Amino acid sequence: MRFAIALAVGLALLTWGATVIVQKTTRAWFENDLGVRAQLAVNGAREALIASWDQTGADKLQTVLDELARDEHIKAVAVCSADGRPLARTAGYGGRHLSCAEVGARVRLGPEAQDSPGAGAWNGIERVSGANVYVSAVPVFDGDRPLGFLVLVHDLSFIESRETKARQFVMLAFGFLAAAAALVTLIASRLSWKSWSNEIRRLLRVGGQDPDFQPILRDVSELVDRIVAERESDNGGGAWTAQRLKTTLNRYLRGEKIIVVANREPYMHQHRPDGSIGVVHPASGLVTALEPIVRACSGVWVAHGGGTADRETVDAHGRVRVPPGEESYSIRRVWLSPEEEQGYYYGFANEGLWPLCHLAHARPIFRSGDYQHYRAVNHKFADAVLREVDLDDPIVLVQDYHFALAPQLIRERLPRATVTMFWHIPWPNAEHFGICPWREELLEGMLGASILGFHTQAHCNNFLDSVDRYLEARIDRDQNAVIQHGRATLVRPYPISLEWPARWTQSAPPVEQCRAEVFAELGLRSDALLGVGVDRLDYTKGIEERLLAVERLLERFPRLRGRFVFAQLAAPSRTAIVRYQQLNDVIEELAARVNQRYGRGSYKPIVLLREHHEPPNVFRYYRAADLCYVSSLHDGMNLVAKEFVAARDDEQGVLVLSQFTGAARELTEALIVNPYDLDEASSALASAVSMTREEQRERMRAMRAFIAEFNVYRWAGRMLVDAGRVRRKDRLSSRVARAAGAAE
Ligand code: F6P
Repeated sequence: MRFAIALAVGLALLTWGATVIVQKTTRAWFENDLGVRAQLAVNGAREALIASWDQTGADKLQTVLDELARDEHIKAVAVCSADGRPLARTAGYGGRHLSCAEVGARVRLGPEAQDSPGAGAWNGIERVSGANVYVSAVPVFDGDRPLGFLVLVHDLSFIESRETKARQFVMLAFGFLAAAAALVTLIASRLSWKSWSNEIRRLLRVGGQDPDFQPILRDVSELVDRIVAERESDNGGGAWTAQRLKTTLNRYLRGEKIIVVANREPYMHQHRPDGSIGVVHPASGLVTALEPIVRACSGVWVAHGGGTADRETVDAHGRVRVPPGEESYSIRRVWLSPEEEQGYYYGFANEGLWPLCHLAHARPIFRSGDYQHYRAVNHKFADAVLREVDLDDPIVLVQDYHFALAPQLIRERLPRATVTMFWHIPWPNAEHFGICPWREELLEGMLGASILGFHTQAHCNNFLDSVDRYLEARIDRDQNAVIQHGRATLVRPYPISLEWPARWTQSAPPVEQCRAEVFAELGLRSDALLGVGVDRLDYTKGIEERLLAVERLLERFPRLRGRFVFAQLAAPSRTAIVRYQQLNDVIEELAARVNQRYGRGSYKPIVLLREHHEPPNVFRYYRAADLCYVSSLHDGMNLVAKEFVAARDDEQGVLVLSQFTGAARELTEALIVNPYDLDEASSALASAVSMTREEQRERMRAMRAFIAEFNVYRWAGRMLVDAGRVRRKDRLSSRVARAAGAAE
């Protein structure tokens, strides 16, 4: 369909272009003709004109002019003297710019006018009585003596009607030819596509009589049908939505249930102080992105049961249906002992891999005891997956650095599984990665996946370089794939995003109400300027640098003292790790110092809100703020930046964004800064608070349009479509192998 529209538009443009060219050319020819005709008319009447030129011959002169005006295409004629006086004219001669004086100014009567026929003449188009006329003024010489000039006014209407006819003819001819060409092309492509698929179907029918080939032929036949269906649906895909994702899953993966493996669960059950049980949404970019996908696809989410009331809310198999009230999928909780949690989660994952992958100046700590736990927990999760599957080739989506070994462990036990792995954090360069004592084992583990996703191409490249340096494997740089043990792992960038429209924006109060509530809660004066930061309390987020930038802002711009307030929402995170405890102390001291330095009375420039905030409250702050500052020192994507944009359906508010986030490559209308450069960051904060509403709207609108299109359904859809393709290929080759084995 799209091809047909493009073809029609192309043909219309071609026809229009041809018409314009033909019209211009014929008009030039006609005008040239008129000029020549005028010259011929003067040549023919020259003798009579010269003989009757003086006053005594005025009647004769009039007769000559009347004679000339008999030509059906000449409307009027006049004769003017060399000094611009009218000598005679036919009835109907006139017009604003046709007086002898005006025309005389354009005609040349010098010696050069005799160089060649028509040399001193002037030709042009004038408007007389509402119609265009073509005027030729031709000099008349008696020997070398210039007598004056003859003005012929040609009727143009006949040219215009000829032109219209020529135009219509060209349009018809071109339109006909173009339509015929398009039709022939379309029919040819349909026929060749149809004959190709019919030919395969025919071969399948013939080969289908041999029972040995039937399983393979069934697959090929399905494949042909699917390719036909894909071709048709790809043309009308449109925007990615939950519904489109479901349809895509049905088409590519036959609606088979997907199993997500992620350390963090999307809903945690926690005991409240009053003894009741509440549900908490953890602060996690991974959860934010993945939860709408699993909701749309009704799968199973295998996660660590880390909530204080998690064990009380599951069935005998460790499962609980969520979301509360909607119950569209299951969480399968995996229980970890305190030692396992310490070694696997706090130890190897968060003191080892986390600082290894982030360039944020924290030294990775590798303890072999932690790694033993990491390995054991990866086994435990792979076992849990095995208990959830109902096919020998399930679709498993492994998430993040907690499970580098799981893809291979799953593949060992389910060789035909379609395993994708998404790495939510950056991947360092090969040299840096090389400091990990278990680098080879981690890489081998990840290569158990069929598809390995990162946020950016740079992270993919770093991964491929690491494989190149530390493993015996073939890298196919054209395909971005690693080939090992006869299997390929595709390595692809899939930049993660948010559901669109964001659930929490839709349920949020109006922006004015959010602003009024937040201002009242923080005790801000009505003309205050509010900045927000929303993060887990993590050293990679650049929270120290952010508060230092606020301090610098107040130092450099005294007018903002007493007015600018920065509210930092910080969810405590990984608090058992010393580095995180230190960060907490540093931030507290820093906020106290800035407040001490610039606070007055009840005014405090920095408000630290260090507790877990549920999404509705976070969105209230996003909607209340004048700016949001995301200052990560290194971040795979950073979904807070995208959430702020998603929250601002009023198209106001300014995003100040670190250049070291994946999001900075996409949200280019944010004010992009180097968070280490406090002068640059504070200037950006100052620009943000003084930005006009119009500019805010323009920037916000562009960023919203980007996220609306590149939403999380597209992220998952692209990855799952790729997984579906790999799956079909694998199914086909294993059938071929089995049939070949049976034939021997
Ligand atoms: O997005 C990166 C990430 O580490 C996720 O893997 C994780 O769920 C999230 O940040 C929060 O971290 P944690 O689960 O350790 O609280």
